[in-house]
Amino acid sequence: MYDVYKIRDDFPILKEKVNGKNLVYLDNAATTQKPLSVIDAIADYYKHYNANVHRGVHSLGVIATQEYERTRKKVANFIKAEDSSCIVFTKGTTESINLVAYGWGRKFLKEGDEIILTVMEHHSNIVPWQILAREKGLKLKFIPLKDDGTLDIESFYSLITGKTKLVGVTYVSNVLGTVNPIDNIVDAAHSVGARVLIDGAQGIPTIPTNVKSLNVDFLAFSAHKMLGPTGVGVLYGKREILEDMEPLLGGGEMIKKVSITDSVWADVPYRFEGGTPNIAGVIGFGKAIDYLNNLGMEEIFKYEKLLTTYALEKLSGIDGLTIYGPRDISLRSGIISFNYRDIHPHDVATILDQSGIAIRAGHHCAQPLHSVLGIPASCRVSLYIYNTKEEIDYLVESLERIEEVFRSGA
Ligand SMILES: Cc1ncc(COP(=O)(O)O)c(C=O)c1O
Repeated sequence: MYDVYKIRDDFPILKEKVNGKNLVYLDNAATTQKPLSVIDAIADYYKHYNANVHRGVHSLGVIATQEYERTRKKVANFIKAEDSSCIVFTKGTTESINLVAYGWGRKFLKEGDEIILTVMEHHSNIVPWQILAREKGLKLKFIPLKDDGTLDIESFYSLITGKTKLVGVTYVSNVLGTVNPIDNIVDAAHSVGARVLIDGAQGIPTIPTNVKSLNVDFLAFSAHKMLGPTGVGVLYGKREILEDMEPLLGGGEMIKKVSITDSVWADVPYRFEGGTPNIAGVIGFGKAIDYLNNLGMEEIFKYEKLLTTYALEKLSGIDGLTIYGPRDISLRSGIISFNYRDIHPHDVATILDQSGIAIRAGHHCAQPLHSVLGIPASCRVSLYIYNTKEEIDYLVESLERIEEVFRSGA
């Protein structure tokens, strides 16, 4: 039985007051809150076994390395990867995608090659490809949207050619909440020999995922969007692809042998983890995965659907509120972006903040998508495991009060 009130007790920050009101945290797509088990694990590392990993033979170093590597195994199990050597720790989705661009793209792509992205990508899955395209003379193509906020898959089939070398798609749009049909995309891309990179920043935290059955080549995601600390991310890659890739950062940890004329890279995944990593963060991430596994990803997925259905229904009842993205719950996640009358999203977010409600306002690092939608900015509510129906009711009441504030000129 999913007990959201019991879950809330594990998150100390949810007891905070903001502007004298109970915090209602609805900005989970930006970053999620952390349970006590994650916070304690980070403190525990610094209090009891702070040491560098993979270097010292002393006891603390051995414990730190064991704990760090334990998280790698947990991550591999969480996404059902073939083995933990396919899991590279980075500092987040952004770095993971950059690693694919420079470690794989720079080595294998050449002038005239094509990359297909979507217009709903986060800037993290656009800008690295623009930089590489400029450097290498690549062509970027973008899958358009249909009116309901889903990808126009028919157009995708016409964009893909023998020159396509990579298809990069977000699992879930961080603005529209759209869940993309990864299997169709993978099949079509693989049929022309292209690789597939999934930006899983918004999908992995809520959708039970099996990378082997999805058959994706790369998957990038961030710990901080799934109860873990900031500064830790993952790049999953098929082992044979990772083995052919070049490192992004040269330095300590990532080599087998160095002479003054040459170096030999370490095996994967260590080749991609140059320098001292975020050890405490990775260990904390392991506890975040334990927390999600204890609740059960299927249960989390179901709860998010329930709450999103409720939120969509309630928000749709507000006069003058325009919701973007699919209405069909089977096509979307708990990220809901909207505009309210002609009130600027920053004003909406600032007024809601006075009621203790945290939402995001702006372009959410998806300017091309906002251009397609014909709007400069939007408000975004994003739900996670600890949000409640009462919080949504309070959001709706508070939104309705904004209208009064504006009408009265207060
Ligand atoms: C879809 C998507 N991709 C990439 C990112 C970037 O993640 P990070 O800032 O953790 O690197 C985000 C963050 O908001 C996102 O929502």
